[in-house]
Amino acid sequence: MRPAYGSHAEPAVVLISPCRHPRHMETTSGDNHQYSWLGEVLPGPGSRILDAGCGRGELAAELARRGHGVTAIDVSEAAVAASRASGVPALRADLADYYDDEPFDAVVMSLSLHHMHPLETVLDRASALLGPDGVLVLDEFAWDWANAAAATWFYDAASLLAAAGLADFPREAGRDPVTRWREAHEDHATGAAMLAAVTERFEMADVRREPYLSRYIGGKLTNGDTELVNELWRIERERIASGTLPPTGLRLTARRM
Ligand SMILES: C[S@@+](CC[C@H](N)C(=O)[O-])C[C@H]1O[C@@H](n2cnc3c(N)ncnc32)[C@H](O)[C@@H]1O
Repeated sequence: MRPAYGSHAEPAVVLISPCRHPRHMETTSGDNHQYSWLGEVLPGPGSRILDAGCGRGELAAELARRGHGVTAIDVSEAAVAASRASGVPALRADLADYYDDEPFDAVVMSLSLHHMHPLETVLDRASALLGPDGVLVLDEFAWDWANAAAATWFYDAASLLAAAGLADFPREAGRDPVTRWREAHEDHATGAAMLAAVTERFEMADVRREPYLSRYIGGKLTNGDTELVNELWRIERERIASGTLPPTGLRLTARRM
């Protein structure tokens, strides 16, 4: 029987705080929507999963709770230390040169691929780490899908929450939201680039465009207010449905070619 996690080296030193994304948003059926989706697309309990770019380890912990054999890696010392502090024995590793003796049934990348460069190298590695029936699972942020309405909605909502003392977010009065959005994100891989790089290497199984701005703001909330994030999610979802906001979340599953 395999352990829930891969083997790991000694805990590392905390340097900076790793990024936070809320895990507590709920669907109308009351489930965490990321976990619900993963429950639909991941192979069953007992499968071997690589969480590449695990951050603070919340997702890896949840997958282990669900009975998967999880190996969690992150290139950041701070992220590895935070994961370990929460009981997830993450490994410090760059996906670009991570090897494992056994193939994985799934490689999950939750909000990590857009931070990775070059995309081609890490996706080639993800493909090589998968077994013949292995699945790549991406839950991503496509910043290039935002338009002026999305950037304005995001900064206005975040600024109001900051003014109310509920979010840790610089207000920057007078700045053009579109310029600010571009300058804040242009170093990250775009949705278009991620889709193209995945399409070249994998057989696409399912691609969905989803809300993301509310998750983004949720990560800035000082007290992780579930009701507030759920309300932002509801509003964003309704604006997407009515065509006044574009989706900026990308969820896909793809198989090895
Ligand atoms: C935005 S955080 C997402 C963390 C977590 N997966 C989540 O959903 O909250 C992105 C993480 O990817 C990690 N990362 C970036 N490039 C990486 C690479 N080449 N290999 C492994 N981890 C990487 C970063 O250190 C960071 O912890």
